[in-house]
Amino acid sequence: MLKAIHPFDALMNITARPPTVFVRGEGSYLWDDTGKRYLDFIQGWAVNCLGHAPASVAEAIAAQAKLLITPSPAFYNSASLKLAKALVENSAFDQVFFTNSGAEANEGAIKLARKYGARHRGGAFEIITFEGGFHGRTLATMSASGKKAFEPLFEPKVAGFRKAKLNDLDSAKALINDNTVAVMLEPIQGEAGVWPATDQFLQALRALTHEHGLLLIFDEIQTGMGRTGKLFDYEHAGIAPDIITLGKGIGGGVPLAALLATEQASCFEHGDQGGTFNGNPLMCAAGLAVLEEVSKPAFLKAATEAGLYLESELQKLSARHGLGEVRGRGLLLALDLKLQIGASIVAQALEAGLLLNSPQPDALRFMPALNVTREEIAAMIDQLDAILTKCGAARRDV
Ligand SMILES: Cc1ncc(COP(=O)(O)O)c(C=O)c1O
Repeated sequence: MLKAIHPFDALMNITARPPTVFVRGEGSYLWDDTGKRYLDFIQGWAVNCLGHAPASVAEAIAAQAKLLITPSPAFYNSASLKLAKALVENSAFDQVFFTNSGAEANEGAIKLARKYGARHRGGAFEIITFEGGFHGRTLATMSASGKKAFEPLFEPKVAGFRKAKLNDLDSAKALINDNTVAVMLEPIQGEAGVWPATDQFLQALRALTHEHGLLLIFDEIQTGMGRTGKLFDYEHAGIAPDIITLGKGIGGGVPLAALLATEQASCFEHGDQGGTFNGNPLMCAAGLAVLEEVSKPAFLKAATEAGLYLESELQKLSARHGLGEVRGRGLLLALDLKLQIGASIVAQALEAGLLLNSPQPDALRFMPALNVTREEIAAMIDQLDAILTKCGAARRDV
C-alpha cells in the first residue's frame, strides 16, 4: 500500500526552504511551477557561472551522454584528460584530481597535505585554517572550517586544525610548530559574509609558508573560475599557492569539483585517493564547455566590468538607504545592512520575484551569473531599492 505523503516530507529536513518549486531556468532567470519568474542573484550559490541552462553546457552534456557516461575511474576517459590538461595549461598547477563536490576536493587537499607531511616533513599533519572559514560539510572539512555554528556539532572533531585570524599574519605565525604542514584558506571568506583576505596578507602568507617549508592551500571553490574577474583569485595577489581546490562554477551547474597541485605537492601514491564518479566524462564534458568560455580574456573582462558596475550601484544604494560597506571582488560582493534584516529582505525579495542570499543576518551576498547584463543588474537594484524603501518606512513606523 502506497503511503500518502507530501513530496516535501520525503526529503530529509536539513534546512528551511520556501515552498517554491523551480522547474525551469534560462540565463539570469528561474521559473517556478506556477509560472512565476524570478531574477536570480544566487545562481545555485555561485555555481551557474554561465547562468541557467547555458546552451554550450547543455549541448556538451547531451553529446557526451550519447557517447559515454562512465567507463569507471580505473580507466582513462577523453573528457577528463582534456579538462585536466586545459586546467593545468590555464593555471600554476601541474596535476588534477576530479571530485564530485567542493567538500570532497577539500578532503583531498587535506589528505594530500598530510601525505606530503608524512613523506617530506617527518609526519607533520597540522593545518592552519582560519576563523570564519568554510570548507564544506564532511567531518574533516567541518573541522577545518572556522564556522561558529559547527563548533558543537558531530563531536569529536577531526584533529589537526588550528585557527588563525584572517588578515593577521602574527596569528598564523604563532600557530606554526614542528607538526605544521600547511596553511589553508579561502582568499575571500564567502559563507562568513564575503570577507576578503587582502593581497598583502596573501603575499605575506606565501612568504611565510615558503620560509617554513609549508604548503599553501587556497580553497577557491567559490572564488575560482572567473568569479572575481580573473580565472583564479590568487592571480590578483601575484602569487601562486601549492594546492588549490575548485568547485561550484567549474561545472556550470553540474556536480564537478577539482583538486589541483604543483608537481612538488602532488604526492599521492596508488591507493591513497579515488572514488567511483571521480572524473567521469559526463561532468568533465560540462567542465570543458565552461572552461572554454570562462577562460576567454573577453569573457573575464566583461565579468570584471559587470562586477564594477554592480559594486558602484550597490554603493549608491547603500548611500541612499544609510547602509554599510560593499565588500568583495568581481561578482562576489556583499552589502553590509548594518541591521539584522537579511532574512526579511530575502523573504520580501522572493515574494517580489528576486532571489537574494543573506549568508549572515546583517549582510546580503550577490553572486549572479558571470555573464549577467547591466540591465539585469539595474533591474535587481531597482527591486532591492523598493524593498529597502519599504523596510525603511516600516522601521520609521516602529
Ligand atoms: C569556499 C567553499 N569551500 C567549500 C565548499 C563546499 O563545497 P560543496 O558544497 O560543493 O561540498 C563551499 C560551498 O559553499 C565553499 O563556499
